Amino acid sequence: MKNKKITRKISQGMYVLTTENGGCIVDAVSQISAGDNPLISVAVMKTNNTNELLKKNKTFAISVLGLDVDPEIIKTFGLNSMRDINKFESVKTKEEMNLPIIENSLGYMICEIVDRIENDTHTLFIGKLIEADLEKDNEPMTYAHYQEHKDELIKVETEKGECAWVCTVCGYVYYGETLSEDFKCPICGVGKEYFKIKE
Ligand SMILES: Cc1cc2nc3c(=O)[nH]c(=O)nc-3n(C[C@H](O)[C@H](O)[C@H](O)COP(=O)(O)O)c2cc1C
Repeated sequence: MKNKKITRKISQGMYVLTTENGGCIVDAVSQISAGDNPLISVAVMKTNNTNELLKKNKTFAISVLGLDVDPEIIKTFGLNSMRDINKFESVKTKEEMNLPIIENSLGYMICEIVDRIENDTHTLFIGKLIEADLEKDNEPMTYAHYQEHKDELIKVETEKGECAWVCTVCGYVYYGETLSEDFKCPICGVGKEYFKIKE
């Protein structure tokens, strides 16, 4: 392959995908049909807790993040797993059709899961749009914007003498002196060659 980075030029947004009892940051969202109740697809990593939950639940919600989003929301939902923390303790949400919606997002889409396709790394969940609202008509945050500004958005603080390794693909931070040869980012799966050190 000459340069896979061209795939980063596919325009994607920044969203919080939620379902009952969990959720995570996603960029891989598409509208894949038209009409009053279009189909929306979202690709969710098989290793994510949210994937397990979606297989048990019938609906999901997508909150659309604006350029003014509080970066703590991205950190909480995108760089942590619900297996380790309760994401809803630190991020304000409201309920719509029994699903958590991120407060101050631009709006939301609620979908009923109608199909799913498995590939080697992700499950593509396909949902029929059953409710939606536009609450703030502001500029959405794109995945490209996140990539360009993640150093400012996800500030990495290190104590004197402490090392932090930052994943250049997703922004995940590993605190420790060294990364083992077989280290893989727990969030996006890339190897140690994608990490840069911050001291
Ligand atoms: C900018 C960004 C984009 C992401 N996009 C996706 C995505 O499209 N699909 C996905 O499954 N995970 C994506 N993730 C990773 C999940 O949000 C992350 O693995 C999260 O910790 C999973 O939490 P969970 O285990 O509670 O489900 C993204 C993370 C970031 C920071």
